[in-house]
Amino acid sequence: MVKKIQIAIDGPAGAGKSTIAKIVAENLGYTYIDTGAMYRAVTYKALKQNIELSDANSLEAMLLKTSIVLKPSPKGQLVFVDGEDVTQLIRSNEVTANVSEVAAHANIREILVAKQQELAANGGIVMDGRDIATHVLKDAELKIFMSASVEERARRRFIDNEKRGIPSTIEKLKEEIALRDKLDSEREASPLIQAEDAIYLDTTELSIEEAANEILNLAKQKME
Ligand code: CDP
Ligand code: CDP
Repeated sequence: MVKKIQIAIDGPAGAGKSTIAKIVAENLGYTYIDTGAMYRAVTYKALKQNIELSDANSLEAMLLKTSIVLKPSPKGQLVFVDGEDVTQLIRSNEVTANVSEVAAHANIREILVAKQQELAANGGIVMDGRDIATHVLKDAELKIFMSASVEERARRRFIDNEKRGIPSTIEKLKEEIALRDKLDSEREASPLIQAEDAIYLDTTELSIEEAANEILNLAKQKME
């Protein structure tokens, strides 16, 4: 029988993680989980309820009373907060600008990581985020650290935003991405770093298909 493995994909914003993880999961018949969507969902609700984002205890109390559900659909992963479809709302500039502050709280991470580990327990999973290989799925059979130049990542995000009708400029996006990379990499709780046993994949010059094929080939070797 072919072994069902866990595939962890980490890296900074715009590296191509979610696009490529989704293709890899589809090809293998695996479940795809976008952990960034969970941190975005918590941030969305905190902003809506005017909770002070530096107040870890209030955020935790709110999160413990919140239902966050990720649902696969043909158009991609849908995200529900307390039954409301927030898939588009969690991509707003306001959520993006504040999510790294929320994600830096160790107590919030602990709750979401437990949920992520539960979702991945049966294998057959492709999970992307910032701390998947180093923390959430330490024993994942395949670990990828995906990156690309900040210019290319900002260019990709600009095209995404245009499609979603979110106003932005490449210069602003470069600043936002660089700041988020810094906050995510320098925080104390599970910072964004490449795991020792992760494979580095630079997608700056790669098409989506090339990057997905590279991971699929590596995954097949791990399944033997
Ligand atoms: O899609 P994008 O790369 O912009 O970001 P995301 O994957 O939606 O993640 C949004 C934010 O959530 C990141 O900038 C991190 O601050 C946080 N995050 C995290 O701390 N740990 C994860 N496993 C995933 C996301
Ligand atoms: O999840 P992450 O923030 O790492 O990136 P993404 O949201 O998957 O990718 C950002 C955008 O870059 C998407 O519109 C992808 O289609 C595009 N992309 C690309 O043009 N070439 C790649 N090799 C990877 C992603």
